[in-house]
Amino acid sequence: CGIVGYTGFQDAYDIVINGLRRLEYRGYDSAGIVLEDGNNKLEVEKTKGKVEDLVNISSQLKGKAKIGMGHTRWATHGVPSDRNSHPHLSNNGKLAIIHNGIIENYDTIKTMLTEKGFTFKSETDTEVLVNLIQYFMDLNTETDFPTAVRYALNEVYGAYAITVMHEDYPGVLVVGRLGSPLAIGIGDKEYFIASDASPFVEFTKEAIYLEEGHMATISLENGVDIRTITENSKIVPEIQKLKLSLEQIEKSGYEHFMLKEIFEQPKSVHDTMRGRLLVEEGVIKMAGIWDHIEKFKNANRIIIIACGTSWHAGLIGEYLIEEYARIPVEVEYASEFRYRNPIITDKDVVIAISQSGETADTMAALKLAKERGAFIYGICNVVDSSIARITDAGSYTHAGPEIGVASTKAFTAQLTILSLIALKLGKHNGNLGNADFMSLIAELDAIPKKIEDVLSSTHELVQDIAKDFINATNFLYLGRGYNYPAALEGALKLKEISYIHAEGYPAAEMKHGPIALIDENMPIVIIAPKKGHYDKIVSNVQEIKARKGKVIAVVNSGDTQVSQMSDYVIEIPETSECFSPIVASVPLQLLAYYIAVYRGANVDQPRNLAKSVTVE
Ligand code: G6P
Repeated sequence: CGIVGYTGFQDAYDIVINGLRRLEYRGYDSAGIVLEDGNNKLEVEKTKGKVEDLVNISSQLKGKAKIGMGHTRWATHGVPSDRNSHPHLSNNGKLAIIHNGIIENYDTIKTMLTEKGFTFKSETDTEVLVNLIQYFMDLNTETDFPTAVRYALNEVYGAYAITVMHEDYPGVLVVGRLGSPLAIGIGDKEYFIASDASPFVEFTKEAIYLEEGHMATISLENGVDIRTITENSKIVPEIQKLKLSLEQIEKSGYEHFMLKEIFEQPKSVHDTMRGRLLVEEGVIKMAGIWDHIEKFKNANRIIIIACGTSWHAGLIGEYLIEEYARIPVEVEYASEFRYRNPIITDKDVVIAISQSGETADTMAALKLAKERGAFIYGICNVVDSSIARITDAGSYTHAGPEIGVASTKAFTAQLTILSLIALKLGKHNGNLGNADFMSLIAELDAIPKKIEDVLSSTHELVQDIAKDFINATNFLYLGRGYNYPAALEGALKLKEISYIHAEGYPAAEMKHGPIALIDENMPIVIIAPKKGHYDKIVSNVQEIKARKGKVIAVVNSGDTQVSQMSDYVIEIPETSECFSPIVASVPLQLLAYYIAVYRGANVDQPRNLAKSVTVE
C-alpha cells in the first residue's frame, strides 16, 4: 500500500493526490484521502478502485486544506470496498488514520473495544487501531494525541506504517513504523510523508527515513520530533540527501512504465556494472564483497533467499556462484525459509535479493539468519531500504526506480550483480583462471550493447508474435541450465500481466509431466542458445513438434536446427551461457508485455498484485 501525507502552506489536496498517483504501483484496490478543512473538521473521501476513481469523487476538496493524507490500498484484511478503504475515522470522528501492514492482534483489541462500547464500520484491523488511540485519549483527558498514538502502538503487534491526524491538532501529523517503510520529506515550512520519496521529490531533496520502532510527531510549529515507540526516548534523526529525480519516476513518452523499464535495460545493466567492472585493469571492484572477503572465502555455503522474480534471479545466482566460485549454494523462498527452522551457522553467508528491499518475508528470513549468526548480505535496488539497512554488507543494483509491478530491469540488474559476485569470488579463490576471467568480464561488459541490439531487432517481431497468442489459455516455457530459471521468469511475467496460465519447466523435465499437455493449442516458448545443452534442446523441440505444439524459439542469430523446426523464431546475439539469461529475458519480457497489452490488461497495475509486498 502507499501512504502520502502533507502539512504546510500548499494545497494539500493536490499534493496528496499527485503523491498517490506516484505510489499507485504499491497497491490499487482502493484509494482515499482525508483533509482538515481549516475549521478543525476532517473531511474524508474514499472509494474502491484507482486513484482516478478517487479524483472523480473528491475534487470538491481541492483548495480547501493545507494538511491532509491519502492512501492507496492493496487489500489484506477485508475485501476491496468503499467501506474497507482508508482513511478510517475513530468513533468520535476526531481521529483519522491510514495504515500499511497488518495488526495481528486486532481481534483481541476489537473485542476489548467492543466491550467498552466502540462500534466498527469496516472489517479492517486499521479501524481497530484508530479507535484504540481514541480509547487512550478518552481514558485520561491529560493524554495528548501523540502520547495516545504511542500507547496504542505499544499494544499492537504485527507490521505497520501509520499516519494519524486529529482534528483538534491543526497542522500535526503523527506517524509510526514497524515493518513498513515511511519517509519524511523536510521542506521549508512544510513536511511530507510518504511510503517512498517519489511523491515529494520535486519539493525537497531532504528526507528522514523513519527507523523500525520509531514514531514522529510532525508539526509546523515544532518540526519533527522522533521518539522510540517503546521507551519514548528522543532520537536525533539522520537527514538524507535524495538522489531521485522527477524524470526517473515519469514515463518519458512510453505508454507504460513496464515498457519504459524494458527499454532502460541497456542503461540499467551498464549502471549496475559502472565503477565495478574495470575491463582494462582486469578487475571487479565490489567493496561490499571485498571488505568481507574472509566471510565468503570461509563460508561453508551460501544461502540465497528471495521472493518472486528476485528468487528467479537467485536460482541463476546459484548456477553462477557454484560454477565459478565453487561454493555450494542453496536458494530458498524467504517465506519457506523463515518458518521451517532452517539449519544456519555462523559459517553460512546468506544473500537476500530484493528489488524493493521491503518484502516482509525476505526481511523476516534475513532477521532469522542474522539471529543465528550468519553473515547477511543484501542485493537491493532501493537505496536505504529496510533490507539494505539490516544487512552486514551488500551491493546495490543501480537499476533506478522500478515502477511497473512486473519486475524487468531490476531482474537483469540482479543477474548482473550476481555475475559480478560469482566472477569476483571465483577469481579470488583461484577457481577461475585469469584467461577465463578476462574473457568472461569482456563478455559481461558487452551485455548492455547486446540488450540494445535485441531491443531493436526483436521489438516489432515480438509484437507480431504476440498478436497470434492473445487467446491462448496456457503457455509452457522451457529452458535448460542457466536458462531454466529464465524460463520460470518468462512464465511468471506472462502470468502476472496477461492472466494467461503459464508454467516454466526445465526442458528435460517436460517428459515427466508437462508433455501430456502438449497439443496443437499449446504454445511453448523454448530458450535455446547455442552455448548450453543445445543438442539436448534440439531433441526437446522434436518431441514437442511430434505432438504438434506451437514452438516460439529464442535462439542465437544464425541458428538453423531449432529454427527450422520452430513456428516462430526470435534471434538474440550469442554470449557466454552464464550471461545468456540476461539477454534472453528481454524478448520474453516484450512478449508478455504485448500479449497483455493486446488483451487489454492493465500492464503496470495487474490485478491483485503489488509491487512491494510488505505484509506476509
Ligand atoms: C512482488 C512483486 C514481484 C517481486 C516480488 C519480490 O510479488 O510483484 O515483482 O518479484 O514481490 O519483491 P522484491 O522487492 O523483494 O524483489
